[in-house]
Amino acid sequence: MYNAEPLKTNNHNSNEATVLRPVSVGIVGLGTVGSGTFKVLQRNAEDIARRAGRSIQIVHVGARRDHPDCDTTGVRVSRDIFEVARDPDVDILVELIGGTTTAYELTMMAIANGKHVVTANKALIALHGNEIFAAARKKGVNVAFEAAVAGGVPVIKAIREGLAANRILWLAGIINGTSNFILTEMWDKGRSFQDVLGEAQAKGYAEADPTFDVEGIDAAHKLTILASIAFGIPLQFDKVFVEGISRMESVDIKYAEQLGYRVKLLGITRQSDRGVELRVHPALIPAGHLMANVNGALNAVMVIADAVGPTFYSGWGAGSEPTASSVVADVIDVARVLTTDPTNRVPHLAFQADRLENLPILPIEEVETAFYLRILAKDSPGVLNKITAALSRADINIEAITQREIDEVNGQVPIIMVTRKIKEAQVRQAISEIEAVQDVVDRVICIRLEMLET
Ligand code: HSE
Repeated sequence: MYNAEPLKTNNHNSNEATVLRPVSVGIVGLGTVGSGTFKVLQRNAEDIARRAGRSIQIVHVGARRDHPDCDTTGVRVSRDIFEVARDPDVDILVELIGGTTTAYELTMMAIANGKHVVTANKALIALHGNEIFAAARKKGVNVAFEAAVAGGVPVIKAIREGLAANRILWLAGIINGTSNFILTEMWDKGRSFQDVLGEAQAKGYAEADPTFDVEGIDAAHKLTILASIAFGIPLQFDKVFVEGISRMESVDIKYAEQLGYRVKLLGITRQSDRGVELRVHPALIPAGHLMANVNGALNAVMVIADAVGPTFYSGWGAGSEPTASSVVADVIDVARVLTTDPTNRVPHLAFQADRLENLPILPIEEVETAFYLRILAKDSPGVLNKITAALSRADINIEAITQREIDEVNGQVPIIMVTRKIKEAQVRQAISEIEAVQDVVDRVICIRLEMLET
């Protein structure tokens, strides 16, 4: 349980100021983020101590192998990472191994042993956060996770503390660096999806399993966390609607550009009278919008709140030292509150644990957006009539319609439409009818369109 006593040096001379003993950190995982954390903690040790009010020392590293950039002389090194969670000298365990099995066991063991935990593990928090935070509350320890969302961008702190006065209305973010890097390269250089993915992996942006990035799962983990701290709802990853970018074709990025839009993978959550929207999917957004110009592996989150209005946070969402920046900031935060009463600390999910609300999550069919549709049809008389009739039966208003150049070889023509804001269920009904039209020759490409108006 909470015990401030061991954190001070025995200083019996009342004329001297009390010196707090160094805080001892155990780092588990010495990969991209672990090595960055090791280096930043060592390189900036003096400034960090000036900020934290005490020095912060790495006393133990748990890793399967050494890292060439990390000199662990004088630091205990264990190949069995659980040794770090058992080490009585460790105050704060920094979990940087990723995954949800071993990382979960390690985190729970550290908490059971009275250690504070700092993690960059979004999947762990999104899937097991409710349980982990409950265990941490019982033991009076902290679990900090700034690096889990948007890498080096301190968006958790901004929402949880900086915007604490507000009722948050909605937020939208580019929260997967790998997808943003891929979409940017496809748009800017016309490169192929596979080619760019390989480069993102080499740069250390991509997850161990890159399908997490390109299928929107990583963004959904982060959105789960953002929605909880924005609206005070429990973490519920299984309720997020997820669609990734793996089926994105460069032709749609090109047509979107011609219409004045860019394509981004967005995580969006919005609170309304009908429930909370929780969705990750590619979206067309106006090319002039700030968000449309967040390129490469950069991340951005915009938050719309009742008192402050719109705010915007952007920076590197992945990579070694950008992510380490958030990890180390959390270590400093935890070091500062070590001697405080746990009941007075900032709650893990921004709202007091017993004041979280189980607001309903809106099914995707009920969510309203505009849509970009690309329909490939034979250039035959009446085909456009049949398509617009299907749209009209689904009560869909068309904002814009254009027919692109005909393919002279097969006589097929792409028809591009932008709808007004409608329910997802309406567009699904229309698409199934359009795909049944005899002269429509392929599946209808459908991408949501968000104006991100504030
Ligand atoms: N794979 C993640 C990304 C790393 O690309 O954004 C940071 O969470």
